[in-house]
Amino acid sequence: MRTQVCIIGGGPSGLLLSQLLHNAGIDTVVLERQTRDYVLSRIRAGVLEWGSVEMLRKAGVGARMDKEGFVHGGTYLAARNRGFRVAFDELVGKQVMVYGQTEVTRDLYAARDKAGGVVIHEAAGVKPHGLETDKPYVTYLKDGKVHRIDCDFVAGCDGFHGPCRKEIPADVLREYERVYPFGWLGILSETPPVSHELIYANHERGFALCSMRNANLSRYYVQCPLTDSVDQWSDQAFWDELRRRIPADAAESLVTGPSIEKSIAPLRSFVAEPMRWGRLFLVGDAAHIVPPTGAKGLNLAIGDVHYLHEGLIQYYQGDNEGVQKYSERALARVWKSERFSWSLTTMLHRFPNQSAFEQRMQEAELDYLETSAAAQRVMAENYVGLPY
Ligand code: FAD
Ligand code: DHB
Repeated sequence: MRTQVCIIGGGPSGLLLSQLLHNAGIDTVVLERQTRDYVLSRIRAGVLEWGSVEMLRKAGVGARMDKEGFVHGGTYLAARNRGFRVAFDELVGKQVMVYGQTEVTRDLYAARDKAGGVVIHEAAGVKPHGLETDKPYVTYLKDGKVHRIDCDFVAGCDGFHGPCRKEIPADVLREYERVYPFGWLGILSETPPVSHELIYANHERGFALCSMRNANLSRYYVQCPLTDSVDQWSDQAFWDELRRRIPADAAESLVTGPSIEKSIAPLRSFVAEPMRWGRLFLVGDAAHIVPPTGAKGLNLAIGDVHYLHEGLIQYYQGDNEGVQKYSERALARVWKSERFSWSLTTMLHRFPNQSAFEQRMQEAELDYLETSAAAQRVMAENYVGLPY
């Protein structure tokens, strides 16, 4: 088989890239290791920056998001069981959209199906070859046979554990990493959200986040030790812990119910440079990870797709510059989101052996945020998403 761009990974970044290139008349094949049901069963991000909203609309997959998503003009931050609001719309004139990654992915699959796009699921042993030549190709195993796809470019949209980043030689690849000494225990419950906007809470027992998916589907998180397992956390224990950490008025009005999903995610900051090597591009989690505080993971992936689809469209119009500069352009934005996610994580979480002084520093930072319009503007500008 031959295609113009072979995309490895059928998560949100691979599917969005495929859809945007299709709209520009560029042919792609998407290779995904898992089944579609498996991809759609993963509960992940919930908040879209406005640039992401516009990218999804541009790709022609924004209709359901615009109908069912919730536009939020601000968020609450809290410390010592007391919250305050940061009004993005008033401070920087922008908003965010609450619409789950699962739904984004579902809409993208529907659009690829409608356009007759090729997405090959359960492709095993996917491996790119000839990335330093102008004739790269990708091999994979399916139904007991080895298949080969010849292409012009390979897009590595294969997540943090995917094979593409490993193709960049060790003397070229630089990796930067911070692993945080705690995780997030998250639950999904069919209950009305406790607040009409998100609440990010600092508490001496640990961080907590109140989020949502729709009017009767809530997503809540509490910071937990990495050594905990979900079986140790009954629903009752989760609700009790959440109530202790959030503002008193929210704790009082919290509606609880059985969890329909419960998982623990580790927190990591990670960047791989460069994001292009020969004819290979790394996109999204394949190149970088942020801790979830601030909801940047999916949004960064969409930002990469923005730079890459523009570069590839220019390439097929005879201009090589966007492809050459992809890594530089994407990384400039990636590092700023890494900084924001790291600083929000540092301000809001309880670290092992955190001293009373460090706790007071966090509270002073939150107090400053509450009382300074300048500090709030910085937070708002980053939260709604820096320009592409
Ligand atoms: P992925 O979504 O990881 O997609 C990569 C795809 O590549 C997958 O479908 C995978 O199956 C496929 N793949 C992997 N290896 C191969 C292979 N060998 N061959 C073929 N295909 C392969 N972000 C937030 O903003 N908020 C959150 O609350 C949040 N929670 C998260 C929870 C978890 C457990 C994880 C892992 C991430 C979370 N994120 C969150 C981050 C966010 O979900 C990611 O940034 C986003 O999914 C990145 O999209 P992607 O398409 O680059 O990668
Ligand atoms: C969600 C996750 C986040 O990391 C975040 O900052 C906001 C919302 C969520 O899953 O809804």
